[in-house]
Amino acid sequence: MTKTKLPIFTIVASSIVALGGFLFGYCSSVISGAILFVSNQLNLTTFDQEMIVSVLLIGALIGAFIGGTLADRFGRKYTMFITTFFFLFGTVFLFVGDSMVELLIGRFITGLGIGIASVVVPLYIAEISPPKHRGALVSLNQLAITIGILIAYLVDYLLAEDALWHEMFGFGFIPAIFLFIGLFFVPETPSFLASKGKKEKAIKVFERFKLAYEEKEVFKEAEKPKEIVRWSHLLDKAIRPALYIGLGLSIFQQITGINTVIYYSPRIFQFSGLTSATAATLATLGVGIINVIMTILALWLIDKLGRRILLIIGLIGMVISLGTLGMAFHLSSAHHISQEWVGIIAVVTLMSYISFFAISLGPVAWLIISEIYPLGIRGRAMGIAIFANWVSNYFVSLTFLTLLEHLGTTGTFFLYAVIGLFALWFVLRRVPETKGKTFEEIQKFWKKGPKEMI
Ligand code: BGC
Repeated sequence: MTKTKLPIFTIVASSIVALGGFLFGYCSSVISGAILFVSNQLNLTTFDQEMIVSVLLIGALIGAFIGGTLADRFGRKYTMFITTFFFLFGTVFLFVGDSMVELLIGRFITGLGIGIASVVVPLYIAEISPPKHRGALVSLNQLAITIGILIAYLVDYLLAEDALWHEMFGFGFIPAIFLFIGLFFVPETPSFLASKGKKEKAIKVFERFKLAYEEKEVFKEAEKPKEIVRWSHLLDKAIRPALYIGLGLSIFQQITGINTVIYYSPRIFQFSGLTSATAATLATLGVGIINVIMTILALWLIDKLGRRILLIIGLIGMVISLGTLGMAFHLSSAHHISQEWVGIIAVVTLMSYISFFAISLGPVAWLIISEIYPLGIRGRAMGIAIFANWVSNYFVSLTFLTLLEHLGTTGTFFLYAVIGLFALWFVLRRVPETKGKTFEEIQKFWKKGPKEMI
């Protein structure tokens, strides 16, 4: 019973769940505009500010770690509800909070929500998508993240004049309420129901999403003896390559420097000579807009061209952009080109860098991580990969300014370019093409061994 037309219900359910991605993007980026006012009003030291910025990442990495277990145990839908509670409480806390401690608690709770959402949103969507459209549907999550980032930049910009930082944080409550209400209208995923032996319910939901299913394969999980799935199963020979690929893609997505641009682009623009705050803000908004537009392009291409080719093109583009930016800083420090030129090159290369990220590592890393693991431990395995993503994010955000101090702008961007080359090598050697494949076909691939799908 292979039906190929994409049901509207699948698009609606995916979009509701993707609001979790929007909250991820919004809540993690809104701080960039708010921190200035918070620190003025509360008289914060640099260390206090760093704590307020980084406590969210700590929450997120803990959230990612527990999110997978929650999803495997209680289901994808109920884990989405838990995430939503964190977003609701976190944003209210930040809206009313007036002390350093309240802000820390609010940011930590929101971080937990972001971490859990980063696991369960792609997981949920992957499990309700037909293989032919899975790339675009799961990447709705990445699209929502980028829209969340852009709206955060805009809200910060609009509320900056009156220094309304409570409202900047509080705005996140609105999408969280929509997500909460929306969740009552989406069902648990059919694969999760099947894995728990709820056969009749699972079949109803498979049919509601017009998903073809191999009865023997899907219900196999529930028929297995009820042993507790142990973490060590992740190291089983058949799953290990998938574990490494998930970890690799997650880590490379971060250590090629994306969040130095997302979190610090005004500062990078100022280094390059765009000293006026308005010019730097406008250039930053430009980064946000290009990020959204190129992610839409990725959604369109991802099920046509495939994941590998996008990763390869994207990584080559990212390496060239970073290399050119590093070179421009170098030439300017040796007085071979004027500061004005560095400014222009910085704008062009950061835009091209973000564009190439948006068609490759941005959406594809999340997508592949949601496709490659076997059903019984899919949540947990994703949780580990995504935990690594947040740890790397934290590490890069923490070290960027120090790297600039020690290696200079040239050395720092060259370093990210070299890491990009390693990422390219990793993709060429290891990452399989999962376009159009069912979950069962992907699992068979691990048994047959590499090369087959590359
Ligand atoms: C990454 C985030 C990043 C965002 C930028 C996501 O895929 O995980 O760390 O800020 O893309 O668009």
